[in-house]
Amino acid sequence: MFYIKDVTLDEVDAFIIPVFEDTTARTEELQKLIESGTFTGKENEMFILPTIGETVKYTIYVGLGKMTKPRQSLILRNALSQAARKAVELKVKKVGVKIALSPKLCIGDNTKITTETMALATYKFDKYKTEDKKANTIAFEEIYIIGIPASKLENEKEVLETSINVIEGVKIARDIVNEPSNHMYPKSLAKYVKHMGEECGLQVEIMDEKQIKELGMHAFLTVGMGSEKKPRLIVMRHMGDPSSDYTLGLIGKGLTYDTGGYSIKPTDSMKTMHSDMGGAGAVIGTMYAIAKSKVKQNVIAVVAACENAISGESYKPGDIISSMSGKTIEILNTDAEGRLTLADAMTYMMQKEKVTEVIDLATLTGAVLTALGTSTTAVITNNEAFYERLQASARKTGEQFWQLPTFEEYKAMNKSEVADLKNLGGKYAGTITAGLFVGEFVENDTPWMHLDIAGTAWHESVNSINVKGATGTPVRTLFQLIKSR
Ligand code: BES
Ligand code: ZN
Ligand code: ZN
Repeated sequence: MFYIKDVTLDEVDAFIIPVFEDTTARTEELQKLIESGTFTGKENEMFILPTIGETVKYTIYVGLGKMTKPRQSLILRNALSQAARKAVELKVKKVGVKIALSPKLCIGDNTKITTETMALATYKFDKYKTEDKKANTIAFEEIYIIGIPASKLENEKEVLETSINVIEGVKIARDIVNEPSNHMYPKSLAKYVKHMGEECGLQVEIMDEKQIKELGMHAFLTVGMGSEKKPRLIVMRHMGDPSSDYTLGLIGKGLTYDTGGYSIKPTDSMKTMHSDMGGAGAVIGTMYAIAKSKVKQNVIAVVAACENAISGESYKPGDIISSMSGKTIEILNTDAEGRLTLADAMTYMMQKEKVTEVIDLATLTGAVLTALGTSTTAVITNNEAFYERLQASARKTGEQFWQLPTFEEYKAMNKSEVADLKNLGGKYAGTITAGLFVGEFVENDTPWMHLDIAGTAWHESVNSINVKGATGTPVRTLFQLIKSR
């Protein structure tokens, strides 16, 4: 469905042409538009030119502003998102997209950004609509990338192939998170991952309640105890470089639903809590993309999947529970459940998988929305160099991350008077204390990053390449981080 090929308007339903305000490469048509002031190429500008022949075709011009502006990949992503959605509205099925070269945007950037944006900005989760049942498809049938010089063709075909795997990874992450909890629960998630693993060549191991008990994952089990839907520990392994003793560990929070438990959430906050598995979605999507692209790295991913529900079996505020590490935890709020599942997943990762570096991803705190909004993922880390590598990858993908402090005062907030730790840090600095709680289970100073994606994994409205619902953040950056090591 993606092709790198120059086509004419006759062969497609529409052209999308991103234009720099100060471009010198102007067709006669564009020259006239600019001279007449009809379309000038300013950022956020869009002009649709219909051509009426046997059928109606469109040329959609979108503006990118001046070539010297910073953050051009972001501008291009935004412009193409806007144009792609317009094309969908116009019922376009076959589309040709021109590349936009500038001193800051190379051909490779264009191929990657164009493919990713055309697919991800038009993603739909509509499988439960009985009419128009096309099951989570991308809107276009054929997408042509136009303007790649012949000498670069081979190279760009490789870029394209990788981009397609990453897109699929993001789609998987979005699908998993968008699925409601009556369809996506620990057992069905495990089945999904098993199936996915067979398709992309990933080793998948599923552990049931009995095996989780044998591992001693008491904190994880405690969170899932109140639900009829029994927990599963999902382990995925991609050993792409057997000669290396380096292994990256990825841990994704996988609360298939979070009612809050006895510390119950109000209805309005609860209704989207099937999305409390954004970390799991991102980890699973990333594993798909690296396996499919045969990335030469060792990566092991773990999802402790369970549901936080209410019953006579549920844990309660005031309980003191144990954990796989042996540390005891005083429960002060059953809605601070994610860190309990992550704690045991971390211990499992340290003691059973013995990874060299580890990243945990979680829709962990509402407080991160207050701190950073929906555009930026919060980071807590014990290793600056690791964080720098994340930032370098993020600069390539356009996803945004920002570090929060980890001073001793914050760590002290997690200490309990009656147990080793408590699952509530206090009233303030909730994102930091939650992250540091997970950090308590990192062993031997293993380089670690915690990503709080509660603001970035789920959006209430469309924005750039993200649509309403699950965003699949940060699959693209994790893929980049792993590939570029
Ligand atoms: N899953 C929620 C966090 C969340 C909130 C994700 C909003 C997405 C959007 C988490 O389990 C939770 O409930 N956290 C509590 C922690 C508090 C009890 C310390 C919160 O943020 O209110
Ligand atoms: Zn919660
Ligand atoms: Zn939660």
